[in-house]
Amino acid sequence: MRDRYAVIGRPINHTKSPLIHGLFAQASGQHLEYGAIEGSLEHFETQVLQFRSDGGQGMNITAPFKLRAFELAERRSERAQLARAANALKFEDGRIVAENFDGIGLLRDIEENLGEPLRSRRVLVLGAGGAVRGALLPFLQAGPAELVIANRDMAKAMALRNEVEHPRLRISRYEELQGQAFDIVVNATSASLVGELPPLPAGALGATRLAYELAYGKGLTPFLRVAREQGVTRLADGVGMLVEQAAEAFAWWRGVRPDTRAVIEQLTIPLE
Ligand code: ATR
Repeated sequence: MRDRYAVIGRPINHTKSPLIHGLFAQASGQHLEYGAIEGSLEHFETQVLQFRSDGGQGMNITAPFKLRAFELAERRSERAQLARAANALKFEDGRIVAENFDGIGLLRDIEENLGEPLRSRRVLVLGAGGAVRGALLPFLQAGPAELVIANRDMAKAMALRNEVEHPRLRISRYEELQGQAFDIVVNATSASLVGELPPLPAGALGATRLAYELAYGKGLTPFLRVAREQGVTRLADGVGMLVEQAAEAFAWWRGVRPDTRAVIEQLTIPLE
C-alpha cells in the first residue's frame, strides 16, 4: 500500500494541496497517496485519529481547524507554538507532531523566488492575526533592519509583541505609517477576502520594492492596486507561499525537498 497523506479543512473542495503534492511526488519519484477530507466541526479530532489508524502518515490542516490540530498534537514546534496553529501534522512513533510551515513558506517565496532577501531591509506586515503569528519567527530570523506590524486593533498587536519581544520588532498604528519608508510590505490581513483595503495612509508604499498579498487567486486586490498606483514594481500574491509551505511539509514527511518552480508556474494565475 502507498503511504497516505491528506489535507483536511472546511470547505475543502477548492484545495490545491492534492494537486501540489501529487506533482511533488511525481517529480521526486515518491510513491504516495494524497487526498482531501471535508472536516466536520463536531468530529474533527476523531477524523484525524481515524485517518491515522487507517494508516495515514501525515496531514495538512487548513481553515478552520489549525488551532484544533495544534491542540490535538502531543509535540509542537516552536513556530507552531507562537502561531498557536498547526498547518501540518506528522504521525510518528505513536505521537501526533504539529508544525506550522506557513511563515517559512512565505519567507522562502519572498527571498528565493522573488529575490528579495529580508536581511537589513525595512519590512512592514499588515495585520496581527494567525497569518502574522505564523510569519513572525521566520521573518525575525531573516534579520530585517526593522519589522513593523500595523494593525487596527492595537491590543492584539501589543499582545503579539509582548510574546516575542525582539529588538527589531515594532508595532504601529496605521496612521503612524505616514511618511515612513518600507522596502517590503506584506498584506497579511483578511481585508482582501472581502474586497477591502487596510487603512494605509496615502503614499505609505512610495518607497516599496515588493508588495505581497497573502491571498491567492484574487487577482489585483485593493491592496495590490494601491501598491501599483504608488509605483511599486513588484506585486505578488500567495501562490508561491502556498507551494513553498507544501514543499516544507513534503520534506518534513518524506525527507526529500521537491523542486517548487514548475509547480508555482503551473498554479500562477496572472494578476490581471
Ligand atoms: P488570519 O488567521 O487569516 O490572519 P484572523 O486571525 O481572523 O485571520 O485575523 C485577521 C486580521 O486581518 C486581523 O489582524 C484584522 O485586523 P484587526 O485585528 O484590527 O481586526 C485584519 N483585518 C481584517 N479586515 C481588515 C481591514 N478591512 N483592514 C485592516 N485590517 C483588517
